[in-house]
This record gives sequence, C-alpha cells and structure tokens, in this order.
Amino acid sequence: MLVGNKVRLRALEREDLPNCVRWLNDREVTEFLLQNSPLSQAMEEKWFDAQVSIPPTSGQVLAIEAKVGTDWVHIGNTGLHNVEPVTREAEFGIFIGEKSYWNQGLGREATLLTLKHGFEDLNLNRIFLFVFENNLRGIAAYKAAGFVHEGTLREAIYKNGRYYNVLVMSVLHSEWKGC
Ligand SMILES: CC(C)(COP(=O)(O)OP(=O)(O)OC[C@H]1O[C@@H](n2cnc3c(N)ncnc32)[C@H](O)[C@@H]1OP(=O)(O)O)[C@@H](O)C(=O)NCCC(=O)NCCS
Repeated sequence: MLVGNKVRLRALEREDLPNCVRWLNDREVTEFLLQNSPLSQAMEEKWFDAQVSIPPTSGQVLAIEAKVGTDWVHIGNTGLHNVEPVTREAEFGIFIGEKSYWNQGLGREATLLTLKHGFEDLNLNRIFLFVFENNLRGIAAYKAAGFVHEGTLREAIYKNGRYYNVLVMSVLHSEWKGC
C-alpha cells in the first residue's frame, strides 16, 4: 500500500472490475485513453486474469482510492507497465474514472506516489508516458509531478474521427525530487 495525504494506492482486486467497466464505457473518461470500443465485464475479467499472471515487479495496475471522511473510495487506476529489466524503465498510466474527483490534485498525488514506488521500490531509472496533445489537464498534472516533454509522435492516435499528436514525457531517477 502506498499512502499519501489525499489518495492511497493498493493492488487492484477482482471486485473492482465493475467500477472499471462502468468508467471505461464513459466516453468522457475515455476521451484521452486507448479505449475505443464498448467493454464488457467478461473482456475486463480476461484482461485482469492476464494482469495478475504478471509478476508485480514487471508491471502492475494499482487502484487509486481517495480519502472521504474516514473512508477510502476507489476512484480510478494507475500503474507501471512493461518494466524493462536491463534499462530499468517502465510506462506510466493513469485514469480517474469518477469524474467528480477530477481537478482536485488527486491525479498529481497518485502520479507522485506511483513515481515513488517505481524509483524507490522497483529501482527504475526512467518512467515515461504517452499523452494525447489535447489532454491539457493530464499534461498539467504530469508536469506538476515532474514529467518533462521529451518528444512528439506525429498523428499517432486516431480518436473521434481525426488524428492527434502524442507527447512522450518522462522522469529520470536523477531528476526525482520525492513526494
Ligand atoms: C488526467 C487525470 C489523471 C488528471 O488527474 P486530476 O486529478 O484531474 O488532475 P490534477 O487536479 O492533479 O491536475 C490537473 C491540472 O490541470 C489543470 N487543468 C485542468 N483543465 C485544464 C485545461 N483545460 N487546460 C490547462 N490546464 C488544465 C488544473 O488546473 C490542474 O493544474 P493545477 O494543479 O496547477 O491547478 C484525470 O483528470 C483523468 O483521469 N482524466 C481522464 C482520463 C485521462 O485523461 N487519463 C490520462 C491519459 S494519459
């Protein structure tokens, strides 16, 4: 468990999947995600079975929980994927599916906790992400967490009938300032 001030991260459980299916069928949530088709519970369970067969040190999806009073509420997922054993790099991903929790600094805090996990628990050297050029909220949250823009993939995504550029952003362990 990774615990911050407003959010904590824990392993994703099978019981969390109905939330994920609901969120990933919401076009406002998926506007900036690689999720272009309706998602069923069965499809999500198949994805989950594949995820839990991967060692956590090679990649793991984590549930983001927000503190609400004395309770913790599952609001989305984050994680590190495809950990490269030699270069010690991994891809970061995140979505907050409960839209009422957007724009409250929770994405930034969840990003910082995931970076801390990557650098301090998994001994990563580089954590990178891909973000659509028009995802201004995501880009702002990532910059606030320490990611820098290192390049642009031109027209690398097709969404809602047109192509978009995709930014590559990363943080190196040597740049990591902690949470
Ligand atoms: C992207 C996401 C994780 C960010 O989390 P969040 O909790 O909403 O973001 P935060 O509150 O931490 O930070 C958002 C920042 O963007 C800024 N912002 C919001 N809308 C903006 C806009 N249209 N233009 C510029 N900045 C904007 C906010 O002011 C805030 O910056 P500040 O803290 O300096 O004020 C979340 O919104 C989300 O999951 N969205 C849907 C799925 C998604 O886009 N996933 C990421 C795919 S790469």
